[in-house]
Amino acid sequence: TGSSNIKHLVQSSTLTSIPSNYVFSTSKSDEQVLLDEHIPSIDLSLLTSPYPDQRFKIVKQLGEACRDWGFFMVINHGVPESLMQGMLDACQSFFDLTEEEKLEFAGKHVLDPIRCGTSFNASEEKVFFWRDFLKVFVHPEFHAPSKPVGFRDISLEYCKRTREVAAELLKGISESLGLEECYINKTLELDSGFQILTVNLYPPCPQPELAMGMPPHSDHGLLTLLIQNEIGGLQLKHKGKWIHVNALPNSFLVNTADHIEILSNGNYKSVVHRAVVNDKCTRISLAVTHGPSLETVVTPASELIDNESPAAYRGMKYKDYLELQQSNNLHDKSCLDRIR
Ligand code: SIN
Ligand code: FE2
Repeated sequence: TGSSNIKHLVQSSTLTSIPSNYVFSTSKSDEQVLLDEHIPSIDLSLLTSPYPDQRFKIVKQLGEACRDWGFFMVINHGVPESLMQGMLDACQSFFDLTEEEKLEFAGKHVLDPIRCGTSFNASEEKVFFWRDFLKVFVHPEFHAPSKPVGFRDISLEYCKRTREVAAELLKGISESLGLEECYINKTLELDSGFQILTVNLYPPCPQPELAMGMPPHSDHGLLTLLIQNEIGGLQLKHKGKWIHVNALPNSFLVNTADHIEILSNGNYKSVVHRAVVNDKCTRISLAVTHGPSLETVVTPASELIDNESPAAYRGMKYKDYLELQQSNNLHDKSCLDRIR
């Protein structure tokens, strides 16, 4: 391609059209995208409420959000706005490092704990995505790039806080499935749960209707918590149509991922989503994926299996699943389909 990343390509030339190896599909613009649908919001302060009535109500709402949408906004989560903004700023500073500085973190293997790069899996792809990324494994062992200054401290704190939010949500989700409150946290060994921070940078694109920031995919873990700078671009597939997600400021966008689908025996779906690009401003999104421990073999909860609903997935060690999914071409839900 002549350029190691898309930010560099955009800054080092005045592009009026995109290089042909970034043309994702010419039919995407014909697809209808719904703009006025709203995903549900979940008030986390009610989920942690000491009043059983309030909690009961919100657990029910959470269950409906997981079953009907697989995507919801979390508000009143208690994570300080300054921490969320500071984290986004630190991520911008990472991408603003020089090309030489970033080269140090250009990992090769999908299981490298710190890896920055472009597209999704550039060595495997024929068509590139309009995206640069940084991926960092942050739990159970914490990693962080040594630059920029301050990245380590703020990402440590941010990921600890999102882990707490995820743990609360997973208690509510367990309960909404009729399982013990701590079922997911215990069975899947969340204390040593695998957590990945993924930062996506989507520079302005001269022909946004031809390019794709991130192709349709579902996430591998249990829950992903996403924030973005004020620029939208996330779309999810709902009842066969693409829906543009409008996030409330300071909320987390949360989606139930493949391992919730597996554990819930398909009662809750891992929803396909994608990121589109725009021609005006750089979008940054920051997704933290919360998964089981790498050694856990996840199977559908036995309580959710009976004659009418036999186990819909076979068990697979999370580490193997992760490797399969990350080295895949990420198209739709091909990875989940392999364990049906
Ligand atoms: C993702 O699916 O991991 C990121 C999507 C986005 O950038 O909003
Ligand atoms: Fe995703």
